[in-house]
Amino acid sequence: MKLTWYGHSCFLLETGSHRLLFDPWLNQNPRSPVRAEDIRCDVIFCSHAHDDHMADALEIARKNRATIVAPFELAEHFAAQGATTCDPMPGGTVSLPFGTAKVTPAVHSSTLELGSGRFLPLGEPVGYLVSVNQKQVYHAGDTALFSDMKLIGRAGIDVALLPIGGWYTMGIDDAVEALDLLNPRLAVPMHYGTSEKIQADPAVFQGRAAACGHAVKILQPGESLDI
Ligand code: NI
Ligand code: MN
Repeated sequence: MKLTWYGHSCFLLETGSHRLLFDPWLNQNPRSPVRAEDIRCDVIFCSHAHDDHMADALEIARKNRATIVAPFELAEHFAAQGATTCDPMPGGTVSLPFGTAKVTPAVHSSTLELGSGRFLPLGEPVGYLVSVNQKQVYHAGDTALFSDMKLIGRAGIDVALLPIGGWYTMGIDDAVEALDLLNPRLAVPMHYGTSEKIQADPAVFQGRAAACGHAVKILQPGESLDI
């Protein structure tokens, strides 16, 4: 399988017969090498309602007739605009044409920005543990470190996609501790370098992780990894 990073928290996982897109934020993403109209996919995962995780979801879903997987309230928001959706909540596992996806908790918020400082609460933020072709891929979404990552790690994670930027999510120190709890075969850092507040250095994360026995692969935007 091929995993491609488009900057921030947006990844495309190509399985051979399916294309899974995570947290689509491309057209406003300063580090994305592609535009929303360039994406081909059949499933779109959204971790929460913040713009930098779903701004391009509807456009891509419409163009590709893709299903949007999102926690219940956010899925309803998309369904009301005509999208085909799947609405599992934390703890739930859904079977989809490519395999299964289990929804995991995340410590963050999930609000839709209405402008003028007003926000619409849209349920819980989540992460996803995707099982496809005998591989387990964990996209943590936006989250703080939490001790129940230990439970998520029981699945035997092949690749963990973890925020390291700090400020809005866990930073490097906590992300290294997350590796101790999750124990993935490989981790890929995300959610850094796209705004002034989240300028974490992924090489520092990689170095500290290595000192604790964890493998980290730093991707450049547009770069792919075989998993
Ligand atoms: Ni967020
Ligand atoms: Mn975010």
